[in-house]
Amino acid sequence: MGPGKSPGKKIACTLRLCRTHRELEAFVRLQKRVFGLTDHETYPERSLVVMNKIGGAVLGAFDPKDRMVGFLNWLPAWDREGRYFYSLALGVLARHRDQGLGRAIKLEQRRLALKAGVERIQWTFDPLWVKNAFFNLERLGAVARQYIPNHHGELSPNTQAGLATDRLEAVWYLRSGRVKKVLAGGSHRRAVHAGKAQVTLPLDVWRMANEHPRRARGVQQRVRREFLRHLSRGLVVTGIQLGTDSATYLLDRYQP
Ligand SMILES: CC(C)(COP(=O)(O)OP(=O)(O)OC[C@H]1O[C@@H](n2cnc3c(N)ncnc32)[C@H](O)[C@@H]1OP(=O)(O)O)[C@@H](O)C(=O)NCCC(=O)NCCS
Repeated sequence: MGPGKSPGKKIACTLRLCRTHRELEAFVRLQKRVFGLTDHETYPERSLVVMNKIGGAVLGAFDPKDRMVGFLNWLPAWDREGRYFYSLALGVLARHRDQGLGRAIKLEQRRLALKAGVERIQWTFDPLWVKNAFFNLERLGAVARQYIPNHHGELSPNTQAGLATDRLEAVWYLRSGRVKKVLAGGSHRRAVHAGKAQVTLPLDVWRMANEHPRRARGVQQRVRREFLRHLSRGLVVTGIQLGTDSATYLLDRYQP
């Protein structure tokens, strides 16, 4: 597989940077479909143009008929640790999920970052979406050091089911031993590893949010309190274990 080709288990998609009006328009449309966002919640074409211009990027995955079926965009960023990329929206059309495309898109982003001399990528994810958490922590090897309560303020009920927009911030150290090991198909865990702290939550918080909104808000508030307490002690979210009804985040000491 050369750069730009997805290693998809079933479909062959081509990955490419998007610059044309047609490609950027497709990106805006797909964001709405994948996330159920309203017009004012999506990244508009004019902001995508700026991302391309200032060292960020808009990456698309295209099916054999050249229809965009997956996407990722990012900004160049800078903090005390140095330069990094800040990812904004990653999405794959529902019928193309679980075929390796999301992973292929992130690997292409990693390749482009390293080519540009950037060794770290960050983004946020909702800790209640355990599938994303598993993908980020266990399949990509990212870690999370920060929990941000109600990060995006209020979003449409389509997107957030009435819950606050709490987010964990993923940090992906592209050249770390942990990431290299995970991407090579290994595990980042030691043989017996329960973490120094754990945060457990039920798998069905989203269904609960529709049927028993108060109960779901209670779960979110407890999860928020526990993460904030553990992270304030210097622990880092390094993994997640999925059970039949619940998921358990593992927190540990971590230095990249
Ligand atoms: C998150 C998303 C981009 C992943 O794309 P994808 O093409 O499905 O991802 P992949 O097929 O490459 O990998 C899926 C991985 O997710 C995890 N996964 C898939 N199904 C899962 C499930 N039912 N439960 C737990 N984890 C699951 C696995 O880690 C899987 O990797 P594996 O097959 O090696 O075990 C896609 O699900 C999506 O667009 N979701 C909606 C938008 C969104 O939430 N974006 C992310 C914001 S951070």
